[in-house]
Amino acid sequence: MALAGREGITGGGPCGQAESGGTPIGGHGGSILIAMLEESTRENDIIVAAHSGPLSGEVVVPGAKNSVLKLMAAALLADGQYVLTNAPVIDDVVIMADLLMALGLQIERRPAPQGEVGQHVVIRNSGNITPVAPFELADRIRASVNVVGPLLGRFGQIDIALPGGDDFGGRPIDMHLRGLEAMGAEFDVTSEGITGRCSRLHGADIDFEFPSVGATENILMAAVLADGVTTIRNAAREPEIVDLCEMLKKMGARIDGVATSTLVVTGVEPSSLQAVTHEVVTDRVQAATYIAAVAMCGGTIRVARANAEHMGMMLSRFTDMGIAFHIDTDGITATAPERLHSIDVATLPYPGVATDYKPLIVAMLSIADGVGIVTENLYPGRFRYVEELRKLGADITIDGHHAVVRGVAHLHGASVVAPDIRAGAALVVAGLAAPGITEIGDVFHIDRGYDDIVGRLASLGASISRVRPS
Ligand code: UD1
Repeated sequence: MALAGREGITGGGPCGQAESGGTPIGGHGGSILIAMLEESTRENDIIVAAHSGPLSGEVVVPGAKNSVLKLMAAALLADGQYVLTNAPVIDDVVIMADLLMALGLQIERRPAPQGEVGQHVVIRNSGNITPVAPFELADRIRASVNVVGPLLGRFGQIDIALPGGDDFGGRPIDMHLRGLEAMGAEFDVTSEGITGRCSRLHGADIDFEFPSVGATENILMAAVLADGVTTIRNAAREPEIVDLCEMLKKMGARIDGVATSTLVVTGVEPSSLQAVTHEVVTDRVQAATYIAAVAMCGGTIRVARANAEHMGMMLSRFTDMGIAFHIDTDGITATAPERLHSIDVATLPYPGVATDYKPLIVAMLSIADGVGIVTENLYPGRFRYVEELRKLGADITIDGHHAVVRGVAHLHGASVVAPDIRAGAALVVAGLAAPGITEIGDVFHIDRGYDDIVGRLASLGASISRVRPS
């Protein structure tokens, strides 16, 4: 089957499953005009959520956005054909693919075979790479920064715009750059972007002041082909980082300390690496979203493929809120209490409660019994959705990086807009728990990270639909 060429790049677009065969990511049957029209109409879609519950049944969760994007970047490291299975059908995969195709990779997506979820992302690396990331693509997605490590490690060169993505306030990349400088890279940073150069990177001792997910991933990928041993102390150890380590090891990388906060990478020669097939780890935030939905709407649901080990702290705090769980080998069954109890909770790097869960927690607390204080320790600006929850009747006060949530007896429907991926999903879930009708706009944010949230919630019995204003 032919792989997409670089002429397929159209700046991202609808990410539905191909009906048959493979679809070049970023390609739309060759028509840029059709792609642009599809994208612009879809961008105006609204999710309409009506008061729902109790929910019942089973939902199957696909692979994680925060893993698949990095696994795609890892394909820059070695030539050959990669297949990422269990990949979520989300727009960020399309945007990342557009970026990687602009660098020279060939990428297509294929519907998952019967019995699997998500899609297969097939990537071919012929070694013909131009390490210059176009501004308009890199600017659209935070994970674009993840190409810096592999490109410097393999080609000794990178030109890229400063990464975009969800706007939680300032999102610097100083730790990425300092780590790579310690390995021998030199950077020129302007308001436009970053230019980096190096001859072969060398191993280094890198001690992070904070366990940054992105910086850990970047240094990890750069270190795979560096000369000598790189030690990353205070490394992030999220399940998505473990997933990246597993794929890199399968490719031939030498990494010790996987899943701990000290990663030791012994550089190998490029000829020792090979392309692989890898299954993307399940998305713990999508899994938590469906648990939040049943917690707020009532009922019992099974979240198939959810990995309870990866969600340990979150499940423990959900239990404190009154949700009952049954864990089996391939999923989690969650039963809502009569009414949720309030808790105080603080976001922390893994294994703490992830910041990406926080909008869901604030939504749940908004109808819980009592007062809960939520403390944000990663992104001080990440409370913008609170204004939208207030439109639904939530009683929330912000004090610095704390949100004080006083549970109300019930929310009410209203028109709101999704300010980012996770907050958008929290508004959808809150809408289902609110008597009346809730309309959620700017759903393109949700599409970036959620694989058919409407279809999955509807399958649990929720009254929800996606409409395109005429
Ligand atoms: C990733 C996730 C995001 C998640 C976050 C924390 C992806 C695509 N995104 O983002 O969904 O919310 O981890 O779990 O995987 N920081 C610096 N300097 C740096 C790097 C980070 O100051 O060089 C700060 C950031 O501004 C932020 C905090 O550290 O305040 C956490 O950032 P980081 O862990 O790097 O998150 P991301 O990789 O950007």
